[in-house]
Amino acid sequence: MLRMLSLLIVLLTICSFTKPSSFYDNPEQDPLPPGPDSAEELHKKWDHEWSFSGISTFAHLKHVKCLSDRDTPFDIGIIGAPFDTAVTYRPGARFGPRAIRAASARQTSFRGFNPRRGLNPFAAQYTILDCGDIPITPFDNALAVQQMSEAFLELGSRSPALIHSRNPKPKLLTLGGDHSIALPALRALNKIYGGPVAVLHFDAHQDTWHPGKYPSAWHSAQSDFTHGSMFWIASNEGLIINGSSVHAGLRSRLTGWDDYDDDDRQGFIRISSDDIDDMGTSGIIATILERIGTELPTYLSLDIDVIDPGLAPGTGTPEAGGWTSREVIRILRGLESLNVVGADIVEVAPAYDGTGEQTALAAAQVGYEILTSWVGRGTAEMERAEAMGGSERGRDEL
Ligand SMILES: *[C@@H]1O[C@H](CO)[C@@H](O)[C@H](O)[C@H]1NC(C)=O
Repeated sequence: MLRMLSLLIVLLTICSFTKPSSFYDNPEQDPLPPGPDSAEELHKKWDHEWSFSGISTFAHLKHVKCLSDRDTPFDIGIIGAPFDTAVTYRPGARFGPRAIRAASARQTSFRGFNPRRGLNPFAAQYTILDCGDIPITPFDNALAVQQMSEAFLELGSRSPALIHSRNPKPKLLTLGGDHSIALPALRALNKIYGGPVAVLHFDAHQDTWHPGKYPSAWHSAQSDFTHGSMFWIASNEGLIINGSSVHAGLRSRLTGWDDYDDDDRQGFIRISSDDIDDMGTSGIIATILERIGTELPTYLSLDIDVIDPGLAPGTGTPEAGGWTSREVIRILRGLESLNVVGADIVEVAPAYDGTGEQTALAAAQVGYEILTSWVGRGTAEMERAEAMGGSERGRDEL
């Protein structure tokens, strides 16, 4: 009896496998299409990416090697600067651009709408491209600075895709790299805008340090260039407007009060990490806007170590007691009215990040907020110009 029962079960099992379940049948779809698809059908079927698929670019943006391709204009270019041979502690930020791109994978044009601003930066009339990386030598910092200065100048001097009077040049968002990449960026902006710019600097450290503050009997001109001295060099070259710049999030140890004297001479005000307890994010936003205003061309430089290392451990010179990712994002959201002409996100060193990519995720979100603000400010200006009597487009193209 038992044998017959098990035979029955075996037979039933075989039957259930030979008859395909209706779950696998799709009556709507012929398994073999009658002929080859048209180009339009191919596009409809396959030209789509999931957040987790595709070759890694920032937010799945189109990749163009902008440096060698002058024929594809853009309004905003994401450019990687994989350089980390000017660091004082942990190296590894050369892998920052890759990590930030990977962590931006859930930013897509089909779900890129930013509710805080009511717009989707990836679906606006601006052309945003991932311009790839600058191929920077890791063997010679003087040459590296030359390569970066020339690359930033080449891209930043182009004509934008969308020409109107308030958008005379494309904007670059640089993914570092260690913080020293800000020096070649400022050198290029100085040429493009014909004068110094204000600097809005988010960081745990001043980075206006006199190069001589690293005690050593050994010295070379080359050794003055570090990721803690680039703003000192830039100030001395007259690249930074004296009296309009801001540090935000400071908390590192100092050599002594004379570090502040040096910093004052370079025309920065200092908002410390602790200030957020007294001022709140709104007080910090107000202080920055009051200092810089909405007209001065401004370079926004964000060192990911402004965020607490508990939340963003993947960085070269971590300092306990920083702002949360939420606070930094909230502050950035309040700064859309600044005239930011270029920006960087630096010091993401993924080797020290967690398996959840928390540092790179924060950096990618910072990038998204900067893009949103750029598109938001530009769109508002275009709408204002149109309301004040016709498009300015024709006039500019003359
Ligand atoms: C900035 O201005 C202050 C005050 O006028 C001056 O002492 C300082 O030398 C200037 N700094 C630079 C780098 O020119």
